[in-house]
Amino acid sequence: QQIRNFNHDLLDWFHSNGRHLPWRETDNPYYIWVSEVMLQQTQVNTVIPYYMRFIRKFPTPAALADAPEQDVLKCWEGLGYYSRARHLQQGVREVVEKYDGQLPDSKETLLSISGIGPYTASALLSMAYDEPEPAIDGNLMRVLSRVFLIDDDIAKQKTRRKFEDLASSLITETDPGAFNQALMDIGAMICKPKHADCPNCPLRRHCLASEEGVQLEYPVKSGN
Ligand code: ADE
Repeated sequence: QQIRNFNHDLLDWFHSNGRHLPWRETDNPYYIWVSEVMLQQTQVNTVIPYYMRFIRKFPTPAALADAPEQDVLKCWEGLGYYSRARHLQQGVREVVEKYDGQLPDSKETLLSISGIGPYTASALLSMAYDEPEPAIDGNLMRVLSRVFLIDDDIAKQKTRRKFEDLASSLITETDPGAFNQALMDIGAMICKPKHADCPNCPLRRHCLASEEGVQLEYPVKSGN
C-alpha cells in the first residue's frame, strides 16, 4: 500500500507537472537512445536543439550507420564529450548489422551494444519498452537517499546496487518510463543538491529527510 501510494503520488504529479521534452513525445527506441546519450553529460536545455537537429539529420539507425563520422561529429559540435558520438554511431552500426536496424528489447542484448551501459539499458527498457527497470543516475540517488534516509556513500559502486534494489521494489508495470522521468524531474526542479523545495514536493508525505529537516545532509558522498 505504501508503494502504491508512492507510485500514485509520483505519477500523478508527473502527469500535470512533468517537463514536456521532445524525447518524451516518442516511443522510438532509437530517438530515446540518442537523447539519453546526449543527456549523460549535458543539461536538458542545451540538449533540446541538438537532439532535434540530430534526429532530423539522422532519422533512422540506418541513416546514422551510413553517415561519415565527420558528419556525425559536426552535428555534435558544441555538446562536447565526442567519444559519446563515436560510441553511439558504433552501437548503431551494430544494431543495423546484427539486428536489422531494430533495437533489441532484452537487457542482456542491449548491454552488449557499444555505448550502452546499465543506465542507458534501463532507461531504454523503461521508456521505450515499458519494462519496470529503474534508471539510476545521480539525481535519482539524491532524491531516494532523502526520501528513505539512505546514508550509504554514493561514491561507492556497491551503493548504486542498493538504490537499484530499492527502486526496483517501487517501480511498477504502470508507466515505468514515467516513474523514472518523474524522479529525474523532481531531482532537477524540486529536490536539488543545495535546495529542496519540500512544500511543493509530491513525495513529501513519504520523505523521511523532510520530516526530520535533514534533506540537505543527503546524499552522503565521500570526498574523492
Ligand atoms: N536526464 C537523463 N535522461 C533524462 C530524461 N529522459 N529526461 C530528463 N532528463 C534526463
